[in-house]
Amino acid sequence: MAHTEGKVITVGVTGASGAIYAQTILRLLDADARVGRVYFVASDVGLRLIATELGIVAQEPKKLPGLLTGTAAKKIELLPNRDVGAAIASGSARVDAMAVIPCSAGALGAIASGTSDDLLTRAADVCLKERRTLVLCLRETPLNRIHLENMLRVHDAGAVVMPAMPAFYYGPKQIGDIVEQFVYRVLAQLGLPQAEQYRWQGGARGDKKA
Ligand SMILES: Cc1cc2nc3c(=O)[nH]c(=O)nc-3n(C[C@H](O)[C@H](O)[C@H](O)COP(=O)(O)O)c2cc1C
Repeated sequence: MAHTEGKVITVGVTGASGAIYAQTILRLLDADARVGRVYFVASDVGLRLIATELGIVAQEPKKLPGLLTGTAAKKIELLPNRDVGAAIASGSARVDAMAVIPCSAGALGAIASGTSDDLLTRAADVCLKERRTLVLCLRETPLNRIHLENMLRVHDAGAVVMPAMPAFYYGPKQIGDIVEQFVYRVLAQLGLPQAEQYRWQGGARGDKKA
């Protein structure tokens, strides 16, 4: 039986703005010695967002991970979203945690309703039923009642709802700082805390000197 040392993480990418979050988490997982394997599954619109926002299109799908990380990306396996028979569709496959990043309102709705009609939403459903960590980085604004109800529904089923909603209290200077600090928080939720994560130490009450 195949044995993988290190954590096994699934990264789902859907058609919401923020493909750079997906690129960053894949790069950090690829470089992380604690991680043995990464399953990567993207919806059709997720792939479209990668093309639109990052300008990355793979002629051969298996080359996409390497194009995103800029490395050989040997740990990362891209799985076709239509293949509902892939390993991660079963609770018997070893997966420690999954993040959907970015997560569209549509994917949130599919996960909240348990339809599981593609690999990404089935893998998320499996995480919930197996009581594994599932982090959903929803990217939509403003939110309607359906979104809000779906967030509560997946929360109550065990998911971590973690909207792609960056903080600014650590003084980011570039987009990369904002993206990385958000992704560090997601990785911490997946059981992979990052030394570079900014940690608030407490501070002044906020009244600035003139
Ligand atoms: C360029 C582009 C940007 C989009 N941005 C968002 C977004 O930020 N949030 C969202 O919920 N949907 C967004 N959508 C709409 C979703 O992609 C659409 O609802 C899609 O059906 C979601 O399917 P998926 O979850 O399988 O990727 C966007 C679509 C496109 C083409």
